Amino acid sequence: MLMREALALAQRGRGEVEPNPRVGALALIGDEVVGRGWHEYYGGPHAEIMALRDAAQHGHKPDTMIVTLEPCSAKKGEGGKKTDACVEALLQAGIRRVYVGAIDPDPRHRRRGVVELEQNGVEVQDGVLAEDSLAINRPFQKALTLDRPWTIAKWAMTLDGKTAAPTGEARWISGPESRRRTHVIRARCDAVIVGFRTAQIDDPELTVRHVEGRQPIRIVLDPLGDIGDDSNLVRTARKTPTWVLVGEGVDPLRTGRLQDFGVQVIQIRTAEDPRHLHLREAWRELRRRGLRRVLVEGGGSLTADLLSWGCVDQVTAFVAPKIIGGKLAPTPVGGEGRPFMAEALAIQEWSWRASDEDLQLSGFLY
Ligand SMILES: NC(=O)c1ccc[n+]([C@@H]2O[C@H](COP(=O)([O-])OP(=O)(O)OC[C@H]3O[C@@H](n4cnc5c(N)ncnc54)[C@H](OP(=O)(O)O)[C@@H]3O)[C@@H](O)[C@H]2O)c1
Repeated sequence: MLMREALALAQRGRGEVEPNPRVGALALIGDEVVGRGWHEYYGGPHAEIMALRDAAQHGHKPDTMIVTLEPCSAKKGEGGKKTDACVEALLQAGIRRVYVGAIDPDPRHRRRGVVELEQNGVEVQDGVLAEDSLAINRPFQKALTLDRPWTIAKWAMTLDGKTAAPTGEARWISGPESRRRTHVIRARCDAVIVGFRTAQIDDPELTVRHVEGRQPIRIVLDPLGDIGDDSNLVRTARKTPTWVLVGEGVDPLRTGRLQDFGVQVIQIRTAEDPRHLHLREAWRELRRRGLRRVLVEGGGSLTADLLSWGCVDQVTAFVAPKIIGGKLAPTPVGGEGRPFMAEALAIQEWSWRASDEDLQLSGFLY
């Protein structure tokens, strides 16, 4: 059945599109498929647009669309939306018939797309394999309930689970292809975030260099405002937007100096320990400032704290064929740890693929 093919296309966006839904679409003339598309990555064109483009590239003018999720009707900019409304594009393309999988579960949009299509004389049949469309969109349904950005935790580790040598030195654990993929992920996120010690020890640039793409905002969680003026992040803040999240009690002279370098300083309430920010509050603030998908690149203390606050939605780890050993070498998730196996966090939709000689392992927390 054609809706099954559209669902398989939708799944190609897994891991790339969240917090957006995974959607697949087929463009047809009568009952002949002339275009295929899926929502490939967060912020990218929607599945219907891709299917229309595919059809147009082969010189076809389709009259029918099969799409796994109700076409969107919200205009660009509405609620941070990055693309134009698909309903409009379908009408302009001359589509006369639309078969829809699931209705949009977002209460703000539910049935809006279907109603708009019908009002414009398009014949719509909805509910075709709707449950399957919803089943592959558990991350999207989770995202609808969040008041914080969708958060991906990423790390590179050795075969024995170490993210740095005992000295703290971590360049490089993974190979060039894994680092290139990391830059692709960065370019598809609104921000890339690190903890203070990672900023201090690695002195990273957190830029998109190995691929073409959008530069995300760089964020450091630095409760005491300790980041050095000569660090790569501070020095280049005028060129690449950089936010430093500090605790409330930080010396205004210090925050003023960071601002002089072009850093945006954001004060966040501290947790019980004044050296830690209240992460739930911090993450809500990031969402308030318009961030919808963020990448956390460690280190282990920050990732552990985020996990304990339930603020991680997706994980991706690059495992390199190297062994460091030793009790002192850091691991991807620090903190106290969970005392019993029964309390281990279960990763959903676990998948793996080769990244040259490394292995990339990914999954979701929902
Ligand atoms: N291989 C990789 O993918 C990778 C990626 C990143 C970093 N690394 C390596 O990991 C090491 C750094 O990791 P790390 O765990 O030491 O440091 P980190 O997570 O970058 O930063 C830790 C700092 O953040 C603090 N922190 C924890 N929770 C916080 C919160 N809620 N608000 C604000 N601050 C909070 C920690 O305090 P406490 O000390 O009190 O917990 C500590 O001062 C480096 O050697 C780096 O090279 C490797």
